[in-house]
Amino acid sequence: MKKVTILDLQKMKNEAVKISMLTAYDFRMAYILDTSGVDILLVGDSVGNVFMGEDNTLSVTVDQMIYHTRAVVRGRKRSLVVTDMPFMSYQVSVEEARRNAGRMVKEGGAEAVKIEGGENAAAVIQAISDMDVPVMGHIGLTPQSIHRMGGYRIQGREEQQKQKLMADAVAVERAGAFAVVLEGIPQKLAKKITEKLKIPTIGIGAGLDCDGQVLVINDMLGLSGKFRPKFVKQYVQLERVIQEAVSTYIDEVKAQKFPQDEFSFS
Ligand code: KIV
Repeated sequence: MKKVTILDLQKMKNEAVKISMLTAYDFRMAYILDTSGVDILLVGDSVGNVFMGEDNTLSVTVDQMIYHTRAVVRGRKRSLVVTDMPFMSYQVSVEEARRNAGRMVKEGGAEAVKIEGGENAAAVIQAISDMDVPVMGHIGLTPQSIHRMGGYRIQGREEQQKQKLMADAVAVERAGAFAVVLEGIPQKLAKKITEKLKIPTIGIGAGLDCDGQVLVINDMLGLSGKFRPKFVKQYVQLERVIQEAVSTYIDEVKAQKFPQDEFSFS
């Protein structure tokens, strides 16, 4: 078992080997995903939605990200751990961004951070990369920009937006990012960006042609309730499996069938 590094991800792009990435927020899930062979574990600020039940990611703090990152790092041996820089941890100043990125590595144990934004985030991406903290970019549908976008909307459908997104991708690469997430953009545009960039692209709602794919773990395991965007494939419906197990437990408790002798002490 060889530890995944950012160098391996670049090699994978060069050799046309697809990259797998999933979100993780806790120790046990990180262990399960790592031992299943996923290349990258993203401690996403989607923790705000799927873990805390918020409507968006904006309230998530640096301390919360560090807490979840520490748990994930303890659970993994092989996967690369990337942690999201939450809203307001990198927007105010480059100095603050560097300090917060440093905390993710020093206190959380992250191996890289992810930053939403294109040309507007280039200076911050460069400053953090320059202190040897690898940065993953994130362009297109960027959840921290929900209020500017007027909701979670597919980006890059109009010509002007397409050009802007291409410029964003190039700016992120030039600033020193080692990879970039392309979220919620048309497949053709994602293909063009992937062909143009030397660094790997990781798609979510961006089609097959990206160098890798990412999904929110709760979404792909069927643990997100009724929330199910078009790009999410549910590989299993764990919510139903858990409900069945729990109702069997409740029935057995009520009927005094649990605990049986094998679960009791003499
Ligand atoms: O926070 C997150 O989970 C993400 C992924 C959707 C890419 O940023």
